[in-house]
Amino acid sequence: MNSRKRVLLGVLGSGRGSNFAAILDSIASGRLSASIPVVISDREDAGILELAREAKIQTAVLRQGRFRTWLEPEIEEELAQCLRRFQVDLVVLAGFLRVLKGPLLAAYPGKILNIHPSLLPAFKGKEAWKQALEAGVTETGCTVHWVEPEVDSGPILGQERVPILPGDTPEILHARIQEAEHRLYPEVIQSVIDRKLWQGIHS
Ligand code: GRF
Repeated sequence: MNSRKRVLLGVLGSGRGSNFAAILDSIASGRLSASIPVVISDREDAGILELAREAKIQTAVLRQGRFRTWLEPEIEEELAQCLRRFQVDLVVLAGFLRVLKGPLLAAYPGKILNIHPSLLPAFKGKEAWKQALEAGVTETGCTVHWVEPEVDSGPILGQERVPILPGDTPEILHARIQEAEHRLYPEVIQSVIDRKLWQGIHS
């Protein structure tokens, strides 16, 4: 297959969608040769859905289950079916706040990317920027990695370093990390596409 073919990205998010917006900008400016047929959220009030509608991209909202941090297997299966229906090649988690337990990983093995706001393996889990501040380190960053069953632990594809400056609050530091995320995520997605990494299981 020609490496410049438009790979179809399915984007999943629960929040305001600034990474999704950066990905859209990269597509619009020709830096990312991909298309986004669908954006899916677990929250009907998520900003990412509003951004998708403005960009005339189809949206879907997951059925509400009983749990807050993960999806029941039937709902995760519905999510996988929705992505298949839109012929998605590569799944991009952009602030998706549910742990994926199985059906989606089975449907898209080695084809799910995530961005995390730290230099993994440091500071896995929630509010990684606060963890970095509390640890007193002078540098943190962001990481794009493949998604595997263990949270924030899949193989790393790219990282950008971000300094922690005197007087940083959690909000200021998170904003600086997000600026880096917006550069890193589209670049890494393009590199995955160029290297055709989404077509086979990586190691
Ligand atoms: C980002 O900080 C990302 O690292 C984390 O969730 C946040 C999503 O932000 N996984 P946004 O919705 O893309 O603005």
